[in-house]
Amino acid sequence: MTELAPISQETVQKALAQVVDPTFEKPMLEIGSLTLNGIQGQQVNLKARISTDNPKTKSTIEQAVRESLAPLGAEPAIDWDVQMPSREVLQDDPIPNVRNVILVMSGKGGVGKSTCAANLALSLKRQGMRVGVLDADIYGPSIPTMFGIAGQPRGNADGKIVPLERFGMKLMSIGFLLEDPNTAIVWRGPMLHGALQQFVNDVDWGELDFLVLDLPPGTGDVALTLAQRLRVTGAVMVTTPQEVALQDVYKGVNMCKRVGIPILGVVENMSYFMDTAGVRHELFGAGGGQKIADMAEAPLLGQIPMEVGVREWSDKGTPVVQAAPDSLAAAAFAEVAEQVVELSAREHFTRTGGTKAPTADQPKRLKILR
Ligand SMILES: Nc1ncnc2c1ncn2[C@@H]1O[C@H](COP(=O)(O)OP(=O)(O)OP(=O)(O)O)[C@@H](O)[C@H]1O
Ligand SMILES: [Mg+2]
Repeated sequence: MTELAPISQETVQKALAQVVDPTFEKPMLEIGSLTLNGIQGQQVNLKARISTDNPKTKSTIEQAVRESLAPLGAEPAIDWDVQMPSREVLQDDPIPNVRNVILVMSGKGGVGKSTCAANLALSLKRQGMRVGVLDADIYGPSIPTMFGIAGQPRGNADGKIVPLERFGMKLMSIGFLLEDPNTAIVWRGPMLHGALQQFVNDVDWGELDFLVLDLPPGTGDVALTLAQRLRVTGAVMVTTPQEVALQDVYKGVNMCKRVGIPILGVVENMSYFMDTAGVRHELFGAGGGQKIADMAEAPLLGQIPMEVGVREWSDKGTPVVQAAPDSLAAAAFAEVAEQVVELSAREHFTRTGGTKAPTADQPKRLKILR
């Protein structure tokens, strides 16, 4: 039996040079998301840095590494290093321990922003993230109903408002502060800004991976105000497929572009209805989501079917991804959430120069960039 020739570091490096990072789409060795820890006989010890503990990401990397090393007769042993990147934290950032701020918005009313925000948040939670939901709809808060939660938040010793908790997530809504949730609120602009600022500044959000904001209809000043106070990770634009919805959503996209809020992607809600025979009916037409995505130069993250359960479960206070995780809609939301995590990481990678895979350290910015 012939002795196997020892494998040199150089051959291994060469073989691994082609392995591309599934999140950052660049060679892993080059951006530092893959490092060689040593070679023991036929075993190549590697460390791979990933943004989240997602089994799909792991198996994609593992497979690519395995295939590259196979011609050398070598086997990888990968040590996983999970580091979730963070948005830049401004000097006066009110929530420095919140890694990502995601705006769920549309420009158009009634397209399912709140439904998407609630189910996106819960999907992120179910994928292991620490999540908060801020109901930024001061005039028509939906979060209390969708999460079946009411009650007056307490203050803590530091004078901060303690958010309510449901399904392991932190929730804050103007609805929690009203005696009668059905009271019409006639607040004007400045008060609205004040209330929202308070929800960011004076709520004890603690450490979060994602803070999901459910924005009101309209292109609104809400996103604008927030974008000036802190660096948001990006927006998820919600639309329905039909033409009439699109004009308003275009306005939403333009507003984001104007104030420099990156659009992570587009969710097309109420895309189709699947009947009991498994036939797909496109009740509101087709292609709207893709049109918005093209205009926003962002990916279409998912098409959410119309399902009675989506509305019923929301009305009952347990969003569909929690109540019926095996439903088509829940699977579509979970897919959206996975992509939001990936795209958020990629956003941070690009913002910090796109040459080194980000670590969990928060990049600091001393002043507002715009
Ligand atoms: N995929 C879906 N299938 C069935 N019903 C849905 C779906 N998405 C949303 N709905 C229902 O449509 C209604 C409007 O949804 P939602 O409140 O999320 O919209 P919105 O965009 O937040 O509205 P607003 O502009 O008033 O804030 C709700 O009753 C909700 O349950
Ligand atoms: Mg809403």
